[in-house]
Amino acid sequence: MNFEFTEEQIMIQQSARDYAQRELIKDVLERDAKAEFPTQHVKALAELGFLGMLVDTKYDGGGMDTISYVLAMEEISKIDSSVSVIMSVNNSLVCYGIEAYCNEEQKEKWLKPLARGEKIGAFLLSEPEAGSDATSQRTTAIDKGDHYVVNGVKNWITSANSASTYILIAQTNPEKGHKGINALLVDRHSPGITLGPHEDKMGMRSSDTHSVMFTDVIVPKENRIGEDGFGFKFAMKTLEGGRIGIASQALGIAQGAFDRALQYSKDRKAFGTELINHQDVAFKLAKMRTRIEAARYFCLKAAWLKDEGKPYGTASAMAKYDAAETAMYVTTEAVQIHGGYGYVKEYHVERLMREAKLTQIYEGTSEIQLMIISRAIMND
Ligand code: CAA
Repeated sequence: MNFEFTEEQIMIQQSARDYAQRELIKDVLERDAKAEFPTQHVKALAELGFLGMLVDTKYDGGGMDTISYVLAMEEISKIDSSVSVIMSVNNSLVCYGIEAYCNEEQKEKWLKPLARGEKIGAFLLSEPEAGSDATSQRTTAIDKGDHYVVNGVKNWITSANSASTYILIAQTNPEKGHKGINALLVDRHSPGITLGPHEDKMGMRSSDTHSVMFTDVIVPKENRIGEDGFGFKFAMKTLEGGRIGIASQALGIAQGAFDRALQYSKDRKAFGTELINHQDVAFKLAKMRTRIEAARYFCLKAAWLKDEGKPYGTASAMAKYDAAETAMYVTTEAVQIHGGYGYVKEYHVERLMREAKLTQIYEGTSEIQLMIISRAIMND
């Protein structure tokens, strides 16, 4: 077992850290307040190769490994998870889904611009009545010979407005249950697609989240991913990798809040000495640091399994569960250590706490991860 990173992995980590600490930090509070999409930063991430980092170089991606992805996601998320969620969805739900399961023509057409970061993608699974219970898809893609006609509503879609490429999960044969579901590549500008208003979220406010309405949208048959009825398994397999991205995001949020709490406890004095010299604060920091380190190992283990081509579904659910719970715990403690200052925007930790909450909810709630882990235990 080797706990050391390669030179290339360290370089990628450093490049993400430099960008986040130098550029993202400048306007993060303003973008959060205004819920303003980070257009310039998304462009810069594309230039750094971070939007298609896992994609093979033959499809214009960065050809990097999943460990590097965890390291980069952590660095960006220490500063701004509105940006890292765009990066995560594009890399591990959209690009990965296309690279792993699409045919060569589809990859040529859809994957390359996404891997170069010229376009970004969105993953449309959740619905008003199908969030955790993802098999209950109501959006229909009716087979009309050489095309599908899509009708329905998708909810909570990250990058719904900024994306050009949608991966849509929809029901073709309701009588077949989850085996009747298909995954389709859809041009976001197709006639019949309209968006609901920008969701006014608690955290990650500057990523654009909308509902998406489909009214008689025509999707060519050649845009279907895999065989007829493969859509639900496609979504589940793709989400396994997506959860490594969100786990790494939660890890970054926790580390970002910890760094700020540590600095504050060294700078701030109370009762004649720095806060860190009070045992209750020092113990808080020790517990926070230990939980972050454990979450980091979960993320890296899941990433390593994926890179080695071994099953990683349970490991990614564990990583997502643990890192999200850790982020919530650590950010709450970070606010507490800051006292009143923690409750105002300027010190960042209240924003990190709001961001942490979302990691317990999306790409499968903490309860969904426990469901996946407990089912795996039963089959042990
Ligand atoms: N890989 C391959 N196949 C899988 C699978 C996996 N990881 N998980 C399930 N399946 C298969 C099962 O084998 C089964 O197939 P068979 O009938 O052929 O055996 C089929 O899928 C149905 O599986 P289940 O019976 O286990 O399905 P279920 O209804 O009990 O639900 C669930 C499973 C894990 C709870 C699933 O519904 C789930 O993951 N829900 C959460 C959805 C989610 O994460 N949503 C996030 C939205 S995306 C997002 O947030 C993106 C964003 O914008 C940030």
